Formats: sequence, C-alpha cells, structure tokens
Amino acid sequence: MKRTDYCGTLRKKDVGRTVTLAGWVHRRRDHGALLFIDLRDREGIVQVVFDLSNPSNPCFAFEKEAHALRAEYVISVVGSVCERTSETENKELPTGQIEVHVIQLTILNSALTPPFSIEADKDIAETLRLQYRYLDLRRPNVKKNFLLRHQLAQATRNFLNQNGFIDIETPMLTKSTPEGARDFLVPSRLTPGTFYALPQSPQLFKQILMVSGFDRYYQIVRCFRDEDLRADRQPEFTQIDIEMSFIEQEDLMGLMEKMVADLFAVANKSVLSLPFPRMTYQDSMSRFGVDKPDLRFGLELKEITDLARESQFKVFLDTISKKGVIKGVNAKGLATLSRKEMDELTQEAITRGAKGLAWLKVTPGGIESPIAKFFEKGLLDQITERLEGVPGDLLLFVADAEKKAHEVLGSLRLLLGHRLKLIDPNSFKPVWITDFPLLEYDPEEKRYVALHHPFTAPLDEDIPLLDTDPLRVRSKAYDLALNGTEVGGGSIRIHRTEMQSKIFNLLGITKEEANAKFGFLLEALQYGAPPHGGIAFGLDRFVAILAGCESIRDVIAFPKTQKGVCLMTQAPSTVDSAQLKTLFIKTQGI
Ligand code: AMO
Ligand code: AMP
Repeated sequence: MKRTDYCGTLRKKDVGRTVTLAGWVHRRRDHGALLFIDLRDREGIVQVVFDLSNPSNPCFAFEKEAHALRAEYVISVVGSVCERTSETENKELPTGQIEVHVIQLTILNSALTPPFSIEADKDIAETLRLQYRYLDLRRPNVKKNFLLRHQLAQATRNFLNQNGFIDIETPMLTKSTPEGARDFLVPSRLTPGTFYALPQSPQLFKQILMVSGFDRYYQIVRCFRDEDLRADRQPEFTQIDIEMSFIEQEDLMGLMEKMVADLFAVANKSVLSLPFPRMTYQDSMSRFGVDKPDLRFGLELKEITDLARESQFKVFLDTISKKGVIKGVNAKGLATLSRKEMDELTQEAITRGAKGLAWLKVTPGGIESPIAKFFEKGLLDQITERLEGVPGDLLLFVADAEKKAHEVLGSLRLLLGHRLKLIDPNSFKPVWITDFPLLEYDPEEKRYVALHHPFTAPLDEDIPLLDTDPLRVRSKAYDLALNGTEVGGGSIRIHRTEMQSKIFNLLGITKEEANAKFGFLLEALQYGAPPHGGIAFGLDRFVAILAGCESIRDVIAFPKTQKGVCLMTQAPSTVDSAQLKTLFIKTQGI
C-alpha cells in the first residue's frame, strides 16, 4: 500500500481519483453505520468516510477494524475522492470541499492514549509538551513552525549560494571563543586535565577562513553558551554565520538586508522596503532606552534634565547634582489610572531597578500630581509640551544615572506599548543599529571590556581617541533589531596586528594571555589578512518572530527548559564512575 498523496494536499480537482493515504487518526466520529475519521499527515487533515450502511460497499469488509480505530492509530486507506455537498463542506479545512470514501483499510499500528489531545489546539502545560515532544510535534500548529524554519533555512542557503558564499564547517570541539558567555567544556580523554570548549560561535575560524582566501563564507551552525536562559535564549542555538573579505560596513549591511527581505517574502510576511533604516546606538539609547528598539510604536523617551533643574523637587535636584538625568515617557491616555494602579506602575518601575516613579497627569483643569507643587506653572507647561502631553495623558519620569534611567524607561515603554495595545503583531520593523561604543568600563573588574568582541575595528575617525578618551571611541559594529529583538550582530574586524595589540592593551589583555587564548588568530593575521567583516543572525529568533511565537523554544525541535534540562531525554544526567575515571574527573560530593 504505497501512498499516492498527502492527506492535506487533496483538493476539489482530485475528485474521481482513487488515492492511497497513510497517516494518524486525528479524530473519529462513530455514528454506527457511518464512521468518519479525520486522517492526518505532515501536510494536513482530510476526512475519510466508512459507509457501513450497505454490506455491498467495499469498506464493509473492514467493518470490525474501522470500529476499532482510536486516536493516533497509524493507518493506511485506499479510497475514492468525492465532492462534499455544500451543507457538509468544512470551511475550516483546506481539504474541506472533499472527502475520501474508503475502499480498503490497513491498521499499521495501534497507539496508547496520548497524555494530551493532539487534536485540541488548547494550552497544554509546556513541561508535558516537552516531555512528550514527539506527540507535541504532531500538533499541526506546532509542526507548521518547523516547516517554516526549513523554508527559511533553504531560502538563506539559496540567497548565500547565489551570492558566492561558500558553506564551510568549523569544529565543535575547539577552544574558548570571545563572545563573553560561559563555555561548555568537554574533557579530553587523550590529554587528561585538558578540555575542549564548545564554540560560542565560529568567530575565530571564520576570520581565519578569510585569511585563507575563501572570500565569502557562511554556515548555518550550532553555537553553545552557558548563559541564564530566557524566552529568546537557549544554551544551544543556531546562527546564520557569515564572513566576507574586501568589504566595508555598508556593503555587508546592504547585502544582508536583501537576504532578510527574501526571508520575509518566503514567509509571506509584509514586504520590507529597502534599505532598512539605520540608527546610531546613541540615538537608539536616548530615544528608546535600549539598543534593540521596537519601532512598531512611538512613546519615545524625552529628557527633561534642563527643565527639572529649575524645579524645587529634591529627588530631581539630588539626581542632577550627582550627574544623573531626568527622563520621561508619555503614557498616552492613561491619566485615568487609579491611585492603586499608579502604585502598581511605580512598583513595576522599582522592580526594574528605579528608585521611584514620578508622574504628572494632564487634565483639562491642569496638571494633577503630588509633586506639581515643586514646579512653577510655566515649567509644568514646558515639561508637558516636551512630552507632547494633551489632556488625558500620564507623564512618567525617572531620575537616575543615565544608564539606569534608560534601562527602566526602555522597559516601561515596552510594557506600556503592550498595555495600550499599540503593537500590531503583523507589522515588522527592522532597523540597523550602528556606531556602538567600542569599549565599556566594567566597574567590577576595574577595566575596559569590548562591547562586541575584541576583534571589532574602531571607526577610522575615532582612532585618535583610543589614546585620549577610549570610552568615546565608536566601533564598526552593527546589530539588526527587529520588533524589539536583536536578530543579528556583527562587525568589521581588525585585520592589522598593530591595531589588535593596541586594543588588547586597552582591554588589559597581556601579550601572554592573548597568545594563550587566540595566538593562532594573531599569528594568522600576520600572514596577509585581507580587510574583512561579518555578521551572525540568530536563526531561532528570526523564525520565532516570523512564526509569531513568543519563545524560541517553539521553533526548536528539542529545546531545553529554563534550567537547561531536556525533559524528553532527561539530559543532563549523571554518568557512571567508570566513565568519569577514564576522563580523570572527580565530582566534589554532589
Ligand atoms: P552575537 O553574540 O551577537 O554575535 O550572536 C549573534 C546572534 O545570535 C543570536 N543569539 C542567540 N540566540 C538564541 N540563544 C542564545 N543564547 C543566543 N545568543 C545569541 C542573536 C545574536 O544577534 N560571532 C559574533 C557575530 C559576528 O561578529 O560576526 C556573534 O556570535 O540573535
Ligand atoms: P519621595 O520624596 O521619596 O516620597 O518621592 C516622591 C515621589 O517621587 C514618589 O512618587 C516617588 O515614587 C518619586 N521618586 C522617588 N525617587 C525617584 C526617582 N529616582 N525617579 C523618579 N521618581 C522618583
């Protein structure tokens, strides 16, 4: 019984054909003389009918088996495709205009009753879904994400192949790479006491491939980072990893946005207009409080430090005297919030690290606020004007160090965007963020650290600042943000040894350390490294956004929980002591 068609692909044009189908019993309705089975395979569902009313019908020979069918049994049927009458059409199903009248039935396998219904599209506890992931993946709404993921990966390959990129694999058992997360380590049996690191990305290898003259490299590749997990972070995830030689930042961004637009076309999403907007890091932070702005709605942050200086409000004045800033956001139309709701909002701000939340309600009768008394009328008018406040609006302010104020307000802005239903889920707003600072100061380690990674090149015009004011040096790094998520990031690299040494110096990385960690790259750079740069996109994040999923777990076939556990296989697990002994590993009383 070889299948002739997928269940989900049959249409009116197939009426009159005899087909052989194979799949799972999705749903059954047994009316005694008439038995309906919704038969499901990868491509969808079709209604299969056993008309047992007349012993002369061919399917009557399978009467006993037909009544024995249960959910998730695996069967194969031969039948003829018939048109349904207009009253019995099912508008919910793409195959709803037809049904298959059974001539022959074979039960290929029975099935236990599943712990949750495959048929129902209702919320099922994620722990149960992940434990029985093979059943969860049968659900049409889950499965469709993986078909999309496949299409997007194919489209990526097509685009890159057509543009001269070569797919080259890089090692999984390797040395620590500089992305800055914790490494997953693999002990070496052959050299006791030494460890491989699983790659956080192929960063160093792709740069070396440029030194080797491959010119354009790509790889759809697994990366490993031992980080705290979130909805958009998994310990292993997939990058579309890219590197190019003899290019500048704009060349790469221009090509990559074409690829992204292609992916949108494949996913049948809104057409993206090219070029994507570009925004500097500085601009993004000051207007949105984050470096991955969600541009689907407004509510931009506004600074009022200059005006707050004129007030008598101690909280603001104290912050200003400590070189802090006062910034605000207009929560459009929320002047109606009750005292209790205001307290809750203040609590949201405090949870996000604020010391408090100051507010002004704009009403037809003027400003209402417990702090209004510290401001002259003219000053309140100016503040209202700056935040474009009109009666009915609620103006929220945070006084703090700039970094903290951005963090809190950037996050409150998102909260308000959702609450005020300003976010259209069918809208897609990509934006390139450029001109990131090259370095930031780590007060704990008391040294500069690279914002992207230590191989990122500084902007040419900022090179003199390396000696005088390193924190003001901007880099040739760029991120692609899409609807508030960082979907990709990369940079033009340093390709000259002198510059690389200078940066290591600033980062407080000694020659010995640099050699121990990335000596092979530093050496390679001395043998004629071309100017080069690249980018990596988070494929999981991309697919999740295009599939409309909240979490990347929904687009990874076998994902891990927040605790890094695979509920299906129960990894990670203990191993027997013999295995540890071979690896010369002792666990400390765990
Ligand atoms: P970066 O560290 O920015 O750059 O990573 C690139 C992209 O990978 C995605 N990503 C993740 N997705 C899911 N789970 C994670 N834990 C996770 N971490 C990162 C993000 C991110 O934008 N080698 C450089 C790239 C380069 O410079 O070319 C790199 O790895 O979408
Ligand atoms: P307080 O003087 O502490 O009673 O604060 C008066 C008001 O200012 C309260 O509504 C606080 O939530 C708010 N507030 C306190 N600290 C800050 C701050 N750093 N930024 C914004 N508002 C604040």
